[in-house]
Amino acid sequence: MLRLGVNIDHVATLRQARYRGFDNGEPCPIDAVRQVEAAGAHGITAHLREDRRHILDRDIWGIREALQTRLNFEMANTPEMIDIALRLKPEAVCLVPENRAEVTTEGGLDVAGQVDAIAAAAATLGQAGIEVSLFIDPDPVQIEATAATGSPFIELHTGAYAEGYSDETKRAAELERLAKVAKQAKSLGLGVNAGHGLNYENTRGIFAVPHLNELNIGHSIVSRAVTVGLGQAVREMLELMEGYPQAE
Ligand code: PXP
Repeated sequence: MLRLGVNIDHVATLRQARYRGFDNGEPCPIDAVRQVEAAGAHGITAHLREDRRHILDRDIWGIREALQTRLNFEMANTPEMIDIALRLKPEAVCLVPENRAEVTTEGGLDVAGQVDAIAAAAATLGQAGIEVSLFIDPDPVQIEATAATGSPFIELHTGAYAEGYSDETKRAAELERLAKVAKQAKSLGLGVNAGHGLNYENTRGIFAVPHLNELNIGHSIVSRAVTVGLGQAVREMLELMEGYPQAE
């Protein structure tokens, strides 16, 4: 079964647009977690950024306490975040690049350029029983490098697929790229997740990519929640993800 992890960063983005610097405010990411889980999502993803632009420390600890499913903690590979992860004990950590100027995580991690640093982080987190995944572009070099770090999972960046979706040639090329590296990852013993830019129109196209374990989807679900409610938005996405073909 293809699992759905719901990224709730944008719930906090909306709150911060009005309540930055306040002790509370709406919408509450922890209430969102409860609704997402009640609707049947398999896990929650949240990114505690160095600049705390959306999810705050109090959110991540509150989420940890309220959560019934799995927490996928997105973070940069910094000493501060490693320390938080070791105390927070999420089920999974997804290491992402972080650049203060970007609106959201724009590109994949350059694993090949920092194998030793990422291997050290993966070892520390792995020893604490945390499943580690690396958010990477669908590039064979990055897949090889991920295997060299000892991280058990990749999360394939689907942003280029999402951006090229309306152009048939680009869409086909991106799907081919994603499928090829998913097979490569599988052959190296890596688990495969995917995410970024997936929405109610393009998610089913991802069925062409084999060996997927989990999709992490945020913006489209939180956006749809404005009109149909969060629970309904999650249920609709889960319905779309039904019937994912399991490859041998
Ligand atoms: N996966 C990762 C690693 C992300 O950083 C994000 C958010 O930028 C997502 C998935 C979800 O992307 P989106 O909000 O576009 O669905």
